[in-house]
Amino acid sequence: MESITLKTPSLEGRIYVGTDVIENRLPALTQGQKNFVVTDSNVYALYSQWFKKWFDGVEIFVLPAGEENKTFPSLYAILEKMTGAGLHRTSRLFAVGGGVVGDIGGLAAALYMRGISCVQIPTTLLAQVDSSVGGKTAVDLGGVKNVVGAFYQPCEVLVDPTFLQTLPAREIKCGVGEIVKYAALNSEIFDLIEGKEDKFINLSFLTKLITDCICHKAKVVEADEKEGGERRSLNVGHTTGHAVELTSGLSHGESVLYGMLFETRMAIEAGVCEKEYGERLLAIVEKTIQIAPNAPLDLSHIEADAEKARSDKKNADDGKIKMSVAKAKGKWTVFSLPFEEYKAALVKAAY
Ligand code: NAD
Ligand code: GLY
Repeated sequence: MESITLKTPSLEGRIYVGTDVIENRLPALTQGQKNFVVTDSNVYALYSQWFKKWFDGVEIFVLPAGEENKTFPSLYAILEKMTGAGLHRTSRLFAVGGGVVGDIGGLAAALYMRGISCVQIPTTLLAQVDSSVGGKTAVDLGGVKNVVGAFYQPCEVLVDPTFLQTLPAREIKCGVGEIVKYAALNSEIFDLIEGKEDKFINLSFLTKLITDCICHKAKVVEADEKEGGERRSLNVGHTTGHAVELTSGLSHGESVLYGMLFETRMAIEAGVCEKEYGERLLAIVEKTIQIAPNAPLDLSHIEADAEKARSDKKNADDGKIKMSVAKAKGKWTVFSLPFEEYKAALVKAAY
């Protein structure tokens, strides 16, 4: 099992990756305090025996699966159940699931009694490479993604790649989408995946990539936990991606892939991204979309997507749309455009 430290001013957390992490870490983590579990309906159905083995007798909140449930009413219901279960300041919350469970479970842990210990056990590839690490927690509100949330670091993240064996190909694609994001920031990850898109079904290849992506993210978060600077790099493809997600009904990972596709094309066109490198990155994005093709994106939404990008958290008050984009191999930059220019460039990039 690999062990990675993520030290922030609030906490020195640990991330463990390997097929033996559960048996090596979970018994110690569940001892000595009252525990509470948040999971979703799909994970609970698939892993009922796993929950019985590791969390027998523990109160489990089962959220209906899906992004549409990453909401305030669901958060309220979790907090109500935590209160009813008589949790204390010393209690511990375990978020077992994909990014939706991790985000809402992490926020519940941050809020309950002003913060109780939280352990993330990510079960999707997207959550394993990205969302379970770094302490961003949130719910969506009023059609805006992740608009209510907190930075709240988990004390441990247990990444067991064997969970990926039950993950549908479309969800693997979503996780690979975030891996491609790291490839846009890190030359070694870029070299590891370029031309190897057929290996994304191989568990040991994925395990190596998960570890490399987490190591990259841990360094970025240690340098900039609250996203004042370097952490903005982790939003490559996300400004347009979040807008696509809100208007198309595609999942987060699929939408981020389209976000990277369109924003990279826009950055090449504007001379912000080196053409030859940008085209190599685009080829990886396009092959990743083919891992499990979705129905063609309905481009009649594209102007609505541009409107949605206006409410993105990353924008400041200057009316400009801010995108984190790849610039050259291993290099990124913030590419800002006034709204009307962004809209025109997006329409051009999408067709
Ligand atoms: P998700 O949590 O909705 O999971 C995707 C689907 O896979 C769900 O239907 C779920 O029930 C199912 N599932 C989970 N584990 C499974 C398993 N082992 N086998 C079979 N099915 C399984 O979505 P996601 O893609 O994991 O995460 C997306 C969410 O993460 C979005 O809300 C996004 O905003 C958030 N996110 C957060 C961060 C962060 O830093 N906090 C980063 C990226 C994304
Ligand atoms: N997924 C972006 C971040 O954690 O900052």
